[in-house]
Amino acid sequence: MKKLLVLLLAAILLLSLCACTGTAFPTEGAVSAETQVTEPPAEPTQAPAATESVPVSEESVADPAEKPETTTPKTNILVVYFSRTGEQYNVGVIDEGNTAIVAKAIAAETGADVFEILPATDYYPYTYAELTDVAKKEQNENARPAIRDALPDLSQYDTVFIGAPVWWGDWPMIVYSFCETADLSGKTLIPFCTHEGSGLSGFDRKLASACPDSTVLDGFAIRGSDCQNDRSNVESKVQSWLDELGY
Ligand SMILES: Cc1cc2nc3c(=O)[nH]c(=O)nc-3n(C[C@H](O)[C@H](O)[C@H](O)COP(=O)(O)O)c2cc1C
Repeated sequence: MKKLLVLLLAAILLLSLCACTGTAFPTEGAVSAETQVTEPPAEPTQAPAATESVPVSEESVADPAEKPETTTPKTNILVVYFSRTGEQYNVGVIDEGNTAIVAKAIAAETGADVFEILPATDYYPYTYAELTDVAKKEQNENARPAIRDALPDLSQYDTVFIGAPVWWGDWPMIVYSFCETADLSGKTLIPFCTHEGSGLSGFDRKLASACPDSTVLDGFAIRGSDCQNDRSNVESKVQSWLDELGY
């Protein structure tokens, strides 16, 4: 009887085991709910294959027949000048220097580049009387005031116009600073000045001795007050002078 009972129990145990394993293993190919969740696509990490066509804007397509862009030819003429604003002889307070007006007229006529000589430290007084004192002191000391800006690359220029006001019958000393620092050898130099009666004051001669390896042409002198009061006349005189020189 005991054996029968054990056999019965064993049979029951076997049957219940089969019942459990019947649902425990999913059939092949079945997908659990977990794997069905769709992830956002990852960023593509690969570059498009070389054969894929890449969109190209029309502008970037080089036309082989097209000529390369021509750059505007640089001028070979430079106008260098020094000039003051503030109170000036005969004209009161001015906001554009007399010599600056002539320099701009030359540049407009010739298409030249322009370089303004500015002092590194602007200690020049605003009032005329004080300015004459400072200018006289510089002249007596044969000073060479420093120029504020780096000098332009002069290699592209073969003609340099150099202008300034007459100060005590001479160039302002800072113009000598320029002439002695810049390499003007082999160039054609053309002096010009504004004044109130002294004329060119030997600017051509002084320029020739400051720059012995340059060719100095005849200069141009005009009254500073005319630059303020009769500008168009000054401009036409500049034009006639340049015509005579062949510019
Ligand atoms: C310090 C100083 C000295 C001057 N000396 C003379 C001179 O000797 N002869 C002359 O005719 N004019 C002289 N002038 C007048 C200037 O040459 C004239 O006003 C010139 O046009 C000023 O030019 P700017 O405005 O370009 O500086 C002098 C002016 C100053 C400020």
